Amino acid sequence: MTGQEKAPRKVEHVAIIMDGNGRWATRRGLPRLVGHRKGAARVREIVDICPDIGVKYLTLYAFSTENWKRAEAEVSGLMSLFRRYITRETERLHEHRVRVRFIGDRSRLDPKLIKLMARLEEKTAKNDHLNLTIALNYGGRDELTRAMKTLAEDAAEGRVDPEDINEQSIGFYVDTRYLPDPDLIIRTSGEKRISNFLLWQSAYAEYEFVPTLWPDFTAEEFTAIVASFTGRERRFGAATA
Ligand code: IPE
Ligand code: IPE
Ligand code: MG
Repeated sequence: MTGQEKAPRKVEHVAIIMDGNGRWATRRGLPRLVGHRKGAARVREIVDICPDIGVKYLTLYAFSTENWKRAEAEVSGLMSLFRRYITRETERLHEHRVRVRFIGDRSRLDPKLIKLMARLEEKTAKNDHLNLTIALNYGGRDELTRAMKTLAEDAAEGRVDPEDINEQSIGFYVDTRYLPDPDLIIRTSGEKRISNFLLWQSAYAEYEFVPTLWPDFTAEEFTAIVASFTGRERRFGAATA
């Protein structure tokens, strides 16, 4: 998108940093994994409402490249939750005509999980009601590092002329090559940082930081946030007409 284009009035791509599961559980004296389970249950409600409110692309940050630093039990609990979520939701997502794709580095994930992810992507590949992207073992710096490696290989082997590298061609090397840039990025739990999420893609995104913990985030709150940004002027660096 360049500064010359008209500011869109639509919020078509929303990305969410689903944060606060641990605090939700800890405040209730429960193990952190209970919070993650509650958080996973929230996803369905948010996915379901998207087509009704004009959101065509939903991108969810599920696990970052930094989250491996957590306790082994929490990491393995999250991985089995991802396996269960995919197994349980595949049919339903397909029935709702949701196309699901994953971004991030899969190579470090368990082969069983990788298989389930690929199966879900294949099964839903022709759906067009909503584009759901799940960021799993995703980090913006890791994504850019992988992109630069591939680009450097292509240049070294003569497939790319360094003279031709531009913003658009870099866009084809990042994981989100099939996605428009996010219009709005929401983070729950009150933290005001982006924690390595969509660094390249967020250049002109609007941000909303809400205190609600992810397991308490409702479709109503989500709808209200999206509505508040719909119609907000985005200038992409240009002066107003
Ligand atoms: C977000 O919730 C989920 C993941 C990062 C996997 P947290 O687990 O970060 O919850 P808090 O921030 O500790 O409350
Ligand atoms: C960001 O949340 C990652 C996800 C929501 C998956 P974190 O809780 O991991 O981020 P920090 O550690 O607070 O920056
Ligand atoms: Mg957190």
